[in-house]
Amino acid sequence: MAPVEKLRAAEAALKEVKDGQILGIGTGSTVAVFIGLLGKKVKEEGWEIACVPTSYQSAYLAVENGLRLTTSDEHPVMDLAVDGTDEVDPGLNLIKGGGAALTKEKVVDSSAKRFVVIAESKKLVENLGKFPLPIEILPFARAKVILDLEEIGGEPKLRDGGDRKDGPLVTDNGNFIVDAAFGEIRDPKKLELEIKMIPGVVEVGLFVGIAHCAYLGDSTGVRILRKG
Ligand code: 5RP
Repeated sequence: MAPVEKLRAAEAALKEVKDGQILGIGTGSTVAVFIGLLGKKVKEEGWEIACVPTSYQSAYLAVENGLRLTTSDEHPVMDLAVDGTDEVDPGLNLIKGGGAALTKEKVVDSSAKRFVVIAESKKLVENLGKFPLPIEILPFARAKVILDLEEIGGEPKLRDGGDRKDGPLVTDNGNFIVDAAFGEIRDPKKLELEIKMIPGVVEVGLFVGIAHCAYLGDSTGVRILRKG
């Protein structure tokens, strides 16, 4: 049974989906709840929906739930993207990448005409930065990227593969993740651009000005943040 906070956020996003749409599907446990609800709805209504997944996890879950997959080659512009987040600020800027899927997530979320975030309300913060910033990097560039991140004030740490994988975590794209703490991030756009300029950086988990709306579930209902 999904936690009620995630369920409420996912239910709110489901109301935005219409028959015939091309959907970008993010990654993570909240998106997993959304995929379950979407699969049910599509089956009940006989909808024609196709999904561009951002990870193996989401692709496999979508198929298990009877959803049709498509690609960003066929659909470089999607109608709607639904994705989770690790942090969201009141201006709808995000830190993402807790599940190491940030690169495809950023491509898909920014390719959608509308991008909605689904999360538990505890992910809302005044300023981004408590969650160390995930950065996808080329394995070849590891040592130098770490030095460069330190140079600009970060505390980078190569993400470990955990109990089931010795050594660094390897992403769906064959890269590494560095989690870099920068303290409170006052100017997310500036930091995003600064990090993207480092050779060997593939993508940064700062999503600035991309999201249109966030549904933040809690025990009593859903808080909605809208752009503008
Ligand atoms: C994956 C992500 C996830 O969307 C983020 O980590 C939130 O996940 P969850 O819904 O499990 O809290 O960015 O790269």
